[in-house]
Amino acid sequence: MAYPYVSDREVRILSKHFGDPAARTLEGALANGRYEALKKALEMDRGAVIEEVKTSGLRGRGGAGFPTGVKWSFMPKDSGKPHYLCCNADESEPGTFKDREIIRWDPHQLIEGCLIASYAIGAEHCYIYCRGEFFEASSILAKAVEDAYQAGYVGKDILGSGVNVDITVHIGAGAYICGEETGLMNSLEGRRGQPRVKPPFPAAAGLFGMPTTVNNVETLAAVPHIVEHGGEWYRQWGTEKSPGTKLFCVSGHVNRPGNYELPLGFPLKDLIHDVCGGIRDGNALKAVIPGGSSVPILSAEESEECALCYEGVIAAGSMLGCASVIVMDETTDMVKQVRRMAYFYQHESCGQCTPCREGSAWVTKILRRIEDGRGKEEDLETLVEVTTQMTGTTICVLSDSVAAPVQSSIEKFRDEYLALIRRGERVGAA
Ligand SMILES: Cc1cc2nc3c(=O)[nH]c(=O)nc-3n(C[C@H](O)[C@H](O)[C@H](O)COP(=O)(O)O)c2cc1C
Ligand code: SF4
Repeated sequence: MAYPYVSDREVRILSKHFGDPAARTLEGALANGRYEALKKALEMDRGAVIEEVKTSGLRGRGGAGFPTGVKWSFMPKDSGKPHYLCCNADESEPGTFKDREIIRWDPHQLIEGCLIASYAIGAEHCYIYCRGEFFEASSILAKAVEDAYQAGYVGKDILGSGVNVDITVHIGAGAYICGEETGLMNSLEGRRGQPRVKPPFPAAAGLFGMPTTVNNVETLAAVPHIVEHGGEWYRQWGTEKSPGTKLFCVSGHVNRPGNYELPLGFPLKDLIHDVCGGIRDGNALKAVIPGGSSVPILSAEESEECALCYEGVIAAGSMLGCASVIVMDETTDMVKQVRRMAYFYQHESCGQCTPCREGSAWVTKILRRIEDGRGKEEDLETLVEVTTQMTGTTICVLSDSVAAPVQSSIEKFRDEYLALIRRGERVGAA
């Protein structure tokens, strides 16, 4: 057992070298087979690389789960314009801590994925946009990029192939909204990190107005393995609709929180009770947020039969998102938990859209009032109404992210809200 916990139920492809500092160096990376897939890809036709990724069924690991090969095929073939790849390393969703680990432990795996993806979409420049707080990870990555430049894996005429790809590591300023792909591009261009209205979509007009693909770190890190072994090989794990392995970030009230790489479709109850060693102090499970704070909360009963794949989590009543599993035991104060999430989104809202800017602030205020024992029963209807108006009405889905935890908690833990409201009424009456 290493890093700090490894389960024998894991399938460690992306995370195989987590915990081994030697894998960070170029020598260590080469010994681990890094850049072999790049050599193979450079001998393939660009379209064939895209087809292989399509065959694998790889879905974007940044949250939406969009098929990666399909996204790449949206890039124009002969646009005559510069194309760009943006690697999204902004990772700010509460409960998510996987991308930074890929960067910290195996940066050349990511660089290789960026190079292959750039080649496939015809991009000669890739920007890796790192979250501002990633001091250690971004310096490890910058050093790895420098070493890869010196060894001829990055830059002009890569390995004598005639293919040019430059990589720039860009450090953000620590804003959640810069993880949204168009906010990220605005930030890279030196503008305010505010999402853009779509269409146009990035493949048509993205960074600097040019055709652009944005992919998450984990998505790109999976690409060298797919190119090396083939798309069908990747499908031996996971389900038909969710092939491959996925890094699950587990936090909260389990005995062994951490990152675990598991085949998609893995049972949530096994993740909690086996891989993570069960609930702390022998407590009972109360609820699980399966995909980062933007998705609906599952009750303990709903988690019981939940399979951790895109379609399985939807069937259970939530979304897989970026597979950040937040586990809450019976001691959790649900209203406080939801208020803290709403406050996070209020703080991170970029303020362009009225429903998001005003709604997130009002929702936080109302939740605070209930938590403080000054709530009324009508507040629950107001919360549902306000969050409904915040859904599907804004430029990006940050606004919808407030609605998911608020509405699901009112539906599933209404008694907790009512207990606080009634206790407040009794205190008021006394
Ligand atoms: C508010 C908001 C924040 C986001 N933050 C991230 C992030 O930190 N990292 C990420 O990869 N995707 C994030 N996304 C999703 C990106 O917009 C985009 O879909 C993703 O980077 C695409 O990569 P993929 O296809 O490989 O998943 C965010 C989306 C929204 C709406
Ligand atoms: S929904 Fe919120 S975060 Fe997204 S663009 Fe509108 S105001 Fe900004």
